[in-house]
Amino acid sequence: NWTIGNYIEMEVKKIQDKVGNRKVLCALSGGVDSSVVAALIHKAIGDQLTCIFVDHGLLRKNEADDVMKTFADDFHMNIIKIDAQQRFLSKLKNVSDPEMKRKIIGNEFIYVFDDEASKIKEIDFLAQGTLYTDIIESGTETAQTIKSHHNVGGLPEDMEFELIEPLNALFKDEVRELGTQLGIPDHIVWRQPFPGPGLAIRVLGEVTEEKLKIVRESDAILREEIAKAGLERDIWQYFTVLPNIRSVGVMGDSRTYDYTIGIRAVTSVDGMTSDWARIPWDVLEKISTRLVNDVEHINRVVYDVTSKPPATIEWE
Ligand code: XMP
Repeated sequence: NWTIGNYIEMEVKKIQDKVGNRKVLCALSGGVDSSVVAALIHKAIGDQLTCIFVDHGLLRKNEADDVMKTFADDFHMNIIKIDAQQRFLSKLKNVSDPEMKRKIIGNEFIYVFDDEASKIKEIDFLAQGTLYTDIIESGTETAQTIKSHHNVGGLPEDMEFELIEPLNALFKDEVRELGTQLGIPDHIVWRQPFPGPGLAIRVLGEVTEEKLKIVRESDAILREEIAKAGLERDIWQYFTVLPNIRSVGVMGDSRTYDYTIGIRAVTSVDGMTSDWARIPWDVLEKISTRLVNDVEHINRVVYDVTSKPPATIEWE
């Protein structure tokens, strides 16, 4: 009879037998899947695991520090953090097409990872957080053809690693339970989905440092207020988007001409379809007030009330 407890025990043994005294590399993103894989493999082989964490500068507020605190400081994992913000930003300069942005970020991620991996000697295995559903879905290619996802097979094909995919028989809820049993904090285990290209696809059109800052700050405020209202687990995904729109407003005695920020919050089971979340109006009011008061360059807030289909969850 199958429990998460003996799954851990079995997998740890399997990983130890397979790896022996050799080394494993893992791309840690701070998402649920890669975090759980890293923790599981770390439990099995400790310092024989090296994680590479690429900070592409498109993460949410404090996210990079949180990942390092949890896994480097608390778990004592071997993590190489790469600060590649400028590299990604310069590649994204003058690019406004959403699919192009995804491609550039995906490719750049591979180059950066590849560069770093090639510096580490004698790596035999690559660990990946592939889930059972990733395997099924990439076979049918439904949503993936609408927006190119790059979670599966997103790593260099010519790397000579053997793959370790200890989660590939599990569903998301089982992975979360596994994560909790491995001691990973709730804010990671219950983290909402976050796209690989990060905030770059939430700044519509060309990505600039100023626009990233607006979307990052506003996203942090939205998350804080959703948490305060106790709605974190009721809403499947919630974030802000910065459409490339400016409009007229008034602040004190003067006229402003500044950005509109959009709030996207949806309920969903698997992201394939979704409905807009009925956030109570008083919560929306608080969020709106804070957004215009606390984030520079926002003078208008709109709430996205479209379901998927016809809209997608992300705006790009
Ligand atoms: P859409 O916008 O297609 O999103 O309704 C469905 C789910 O997928 C996430 N998403 C992505 N995840 N790379 C990812 O890893 C991507 O390029 C990407 N695009 C969308 C989105 O956040 C939502 O959870």
